Amino acid sequence: MITPRRFWIRTHGCQMNVHDSEKVANLLLHDGWELARGMGDAELLILNTCSIRDKAEHRLYSELGKLREWKQSAPGRTLGVAGCVAQQQGDVLLRRFPQLDFVYGTHNLRRVPEMAAAALRGVRDSQTEENRSQDRFDLPSRHPSLVGDPAGRAFVTVMEGCDMFCSFCIVPSTRGREISRVGAEIIAESRDLVASGIREITLLGQTVNAYGRHDRRRAAARSERNAGGAVDRPPTDAPDSFTGLLRALGEIPQLARLRYISPHPIFFDDELIRAHGELDVLCPHVHLPVQSGSDRILERMRRRHSADEYRQLIDRLRASRPDLAITTDLIVGFPGETDADFADTLKLVRDVSFTDSFSFKYSPRPGTAAASMTDEVCESVAQARLEQLQDLQRSLTLGAHRARVGETTEVLVEGPSRRGGAQLSGRDPFHRVVNFSTGAEASPAPGGLIRVEIVDATPHSLIGVWNQAFEDDRRSRIVKTGAPFADEQRAVIGR
Ligand code: 5AD
Ligand code: SF4
Repeated sequence: MITPRRFWIRTHGCQMNVHDSEKVANLLLHDGWELARGMGDAELLILNTCSIRDKAEHRLYSELGKLREWKQSAPGRTLGVAGCVAQQQGDVLLRRFPQLDFVYGTHNLRRVPEMAAAALRGVRDSQTEENRSQDRFDLPSRHPSLVGDPAGRAFVTVMEGCDMFCSFCIVPSTRGREISRVGAEIIAESRDLVASGIREITLLGQTVNAYGRHDRRRAAARSERNAGGAVDRPPTDAPDSFTGLLRALGEIPQLARLRYISPHPIFFDDELIRAHGELDVLCPHVHLPVQSGSDRILERMRRRHSADEYRQLIDRLRASRPDLAITTDLIVGFPGETDADFADTLKLVRDVSFTDSFSFKYSPRPGTAAASMTDEVCESVAQARLEQLQDLQRSLTLGAHRARVGETTEVLVEGPSRRGGAQLSGRDPFHRVVNFSTGAEASPAPGGLIRVEIVDATPHSLIGVWNQAFEDDRRSRIVKTGAPFADEQRAVIGR
């Protein structure tokens, strides 16, 4: 009997990349490959890369240098590069790194088994052409041995690509044009996932709430041509609108939580805002990137909204769902950003009182409109602004966390806490990390939905106590303390 060959995937970057790695793992499993325990016992290693900032891209180059030894230390080892750097660089990577066997871009996941097989015959290949058809979403159903998330969470792609062309962002060139997936397929995949035990689904798309907009526009133009007059717009609860999708998914019994990432402020309409107040399954958290609080900078970033329009949107969302947690992304040191612009950002952050934020120093990316702006902010100023912004956020986050001490929150259990000790960890509906201790006798298993009393707070997490007596609810899965977390429950496609 021939021993099956084993693969390992190392993933950098966003949720989109994590999910692409899952898709490729699934394709390889269907092709007869097995998952390795780590890169040490893998015959095929794939690096799934990120190029959102310069630093992420350079990490790949140093990683590839180190992997020369991995490749040479056993015969027949194959090395592939995927993701956004692969899409941008294509066969330049093959020329620059002789240890590399294949490169595939963000639209060519389905080619991986064939490229891996060709590599064994000594064929070095790069596939980066854009695929604008629906067949890119056409992937085999989940292989039985694909190790899922221990906490019973899954991503579901609803759209890919981006047509927004924010002036700082490389994504439109690495992910291509915006294309939405057929609604019925999204619902069918979600139903299958829930039937297999998934409790929480996160809908993925670069501008996820723009879902279906091009198809609706094309359909409207078609019906205008045909009828020579009235436009038959699809009703907003049809699954070809984003809110229609959320409502249809909310009908799936046993789906406990629904999230989406990342929306763009300009694609929030009344229906979506209302859904936040009406749909129980929809988690009370929105990650809504704002990037800057200065109108001048927002304009130069081509974000298509002002700081006040963003504030008004937050007010409308909070009117619909008062306890909504809002998190965001921010960039400091964008070309031309003055002290006054930065002060506007600090003001917006205070006004909105974000529960949390990710903030970054601007990094010029090749081919973007901002890369040719010459009024750069010097590194030390950008660094100082980043630190000031992060200090402010830390105090806001700590305040938001402290305000919740005494509350009982629902936690989807992930596993042992990163803080070590005997604590477990999970996330609550607001997407806050909750580290909690358990009683001596029993402890909740990953994937269990349990109730935890919040007893303390740090800027990074809520600290809680779980008590079995809280659980009058059959949804929670309890295991005896000391029972190991099942081996197959570890996450595979880690970062
Ligand atoms: N420089 C710095 N940060 C960036 N982001 C995207 N492009 C850049 C860039 N060129 C940030 C944005 C985005 C997040 C995913 O990464 O804040 O929302
Ligand atoms: Fe990049 Fe802007 Fe598209 Fe987001 S909306 S992926 S920031 S271009």
